[in-house]
Amino acid sequence: MSKRNPHKVSFFPAGLDEYLASLCPPETPAMQWVREYNEEQVDDPLIARFPIEHHQGHLLAVEMLEAAREHKVEMADRPFRILEIGTYLGYSTQWLAYYLPKMLGEHGWQIDTFEMNEQFADIAREGFERAGLGHKIKVHVGRALDELTKAKFENDSFDAAFIDADKSGYWGYAEESHRVLAPDKKAYFDNVFLMLQPLRPREELEALGESGKDFLAIQVFNEMMRTSKKWLSHPLTPNDGMTKAIAIKPDGRYGRALSL
Ligand SMILES: C[S@@+](CC[C@H](N)C(=O)[O-])C[C@H]1O[C@@H](n2cnc3c(N)ncnc32)[C@H](O)[C@@H]1O
Repeated sequence: MSKRNPHKVSFFPAGLDEYLASLCPPETPAMQWVREYNEEQVDDPLIARFPIEHHQGHLLAVEMLEAAREHKVEMADRPFRILEIGTYLGYSTQWLAYYLPKMLGEHGWQIDTFEMNEQFADIAREGFERAGLGHKIKVHVGRALDELTKAKFENDSFDAAFIDADKSGYWGYAEESHRVLAPDKKAYFDNVFLMLQPLRPREELEALGESGKDFLAIQVFNEMMRTSKKWLSHPLTPNDGMTKAIAIKPDGRYGRALSL
């Protein structure tokens, strides 16, 4: 029997997370292995800070399936590519990949994921091997902004992005995601409700000093997304909030149709 994660934050009524999970496909054995590792380490404050959410994983899987279908229809001459920032143990990465082999074949896709903690990156890699996905997922270890600079990804070379790392980095990750995403492709930014703290007045968050830093960063990020001409975005509401944002570019369909 797994231990309950005392750090898990859910704004849903009791039982709804579990009910939603029961409506999704079951986790694969490799996902379960990661979950069990996470739950065994529940007394480690670093590990336990990051709960793992089955239904959010499947939401990402469905979004990636749709993006992969679009990629296939567009007959792009390169593999379907996903950028993920904040790998942790690779649970979300495994969900991002969930439908891709069936839709695009074994070689039609790849994921670049960024994690600064070497121990987490090692566990993630082991999970990918167990899932048979090791050769399709590249884990970049180090501070994401530095590693992204080193990676020198080309403009417009990715088809989707999932951002789930340090909150103060979100706007920088948004800028880099926008650059590397092809026109009209989507980025997903996790935890944009961040335990509901960004709902508080700015002065209250500023008064918290260091302990309010992430809440303030998300509040500022949400405001910047709202007013940005580079994104058409809306926060979805699975639990801690996740914003879905379309990269608007002048030569893209959304940019032309909506004059954004
Ligand atoms: C919330 S967890 C990611 C959870 C994962 N996406 C999932 O759903 O399974 C955030 C991760 O971002 C990593 N991280 C935080 N700041 C980072 C940075 N500057 N560069 C790279 N990784 C970072 C943390 O070590 C942590 O593993």
